[in-house]
Amino acid sequence: MTDRLLPLWQQVQPHIGPQSEPLSQAMHYSMSAGGKRVRPELVWSTCQALCVDPRLGDRAALAVELIHCYSLIHDDLPAMDDDDLRRGQPSCHIAYGEAQAILAGDALNTLAFQVLADPALPLMPIGNLAHAVTALARCAGPQGMVDGQSLDLLAEGQTPSLAALKQIHGKKTGAMIRVAVELGAIAGQADPLVMQRLIAFAKTLGLAFQVQDDVLDVTGSNESLGKPSGSDQGLNKSTFVGLLGLESASQFADALLAEATDHLSALPDPKPLQAIVDKLAARQA
Ligand code: IPE
Ligand code: IPE
Ligand code: MG
Ligand code: MG
Ligand code: MG
Repeated sequence: MTDRLLPLWQQVQPHIGPQSEPLSQAMHYSMSAGGKRVRPELVWSTCQALCVDPRLGDRAALAVELIHCYSLIHDDLPAMDDDDLRRGQPSCHIAYGEAQAILAGDALNTLAFQVLADPALPLMPIGNLAHAVTALARCAGPQGMVDGQSLDLLAEGQTPSLAALKQIHGKKTGAMIRVAVELGAIAGQADPLVMQRLIAFAKTLGLAFQVQDDVLDVTGSNESLGKPSGSDQGLNKSTFVGLLGLESASQFADALLAEATDHLSALPDPKPLQAIVDKLAARQA
């Protein structure tokens, strides 16, 4: 599939350079390594679901992938999951050293907000900028992904309840999935009722996504995942597979994906978002 995100990154990059060489390279290394691009695709598909020009979501699509790439760089660091492989190539800290990898993560994080807001960048403005910036900060930061990562580390070696694990997954992964859809809805000027349905869809999808990630960590290979399989067990992570067993965790992910679909029915055009749900369901099958 063509990567629609990479050209956007290449378009913006000259406007924010030059940086010191290793920083610039480490940032580009992480942004250009591929990945499924689920979050940017959710932004664009949400615009399409609302029957507006997906280019209105370009700033948001790039912003969410910038945050996602930063979160992966930091997630792989020795102090966190200590994983050497990411998207089929050496993790950023293996390629550039820990210090530059930390800084590259910091840079991508802050750049995400510049990408949403900087009028000098050659991208269409996003409708309600204050709403967009607030939503991204809320979902990426201490109310969302960052706290999820903290809770994930604290839960290593523990046996949290199902509700607690849902909360951890919802924050560490669900929040960024949610904000991808929310930003698409802001770009598409969704009315409050439609926004509510889209957020319900995204919350369910976000949880499904991390449950599935836990399942694939057990059933996938380094090659198919592009990251080390079995990493969760090695770190004694609290996962849905650990709590429910492989079979039930996988059924839970399927049930969540089906539930996500139910939230799409009232949209002007549910097909683009349904296509993403179908693609995720096929990953597990
Ligand atoms: C991996 O995310 C980290 C999680 C939040 C589960 P993705 O599975 O979307 O990773 P890429 O972007 O495709 O590499
Ligand atoms: C990470 O979850 C979620 C992030 C915020 C990056 P994982 O630690 O399970 O992600 P992978 O399996 O390393 O991609
Ligand atoms: Mg992790
Ligand atoms: Mg990890
Ligand atoms: Mg994982």
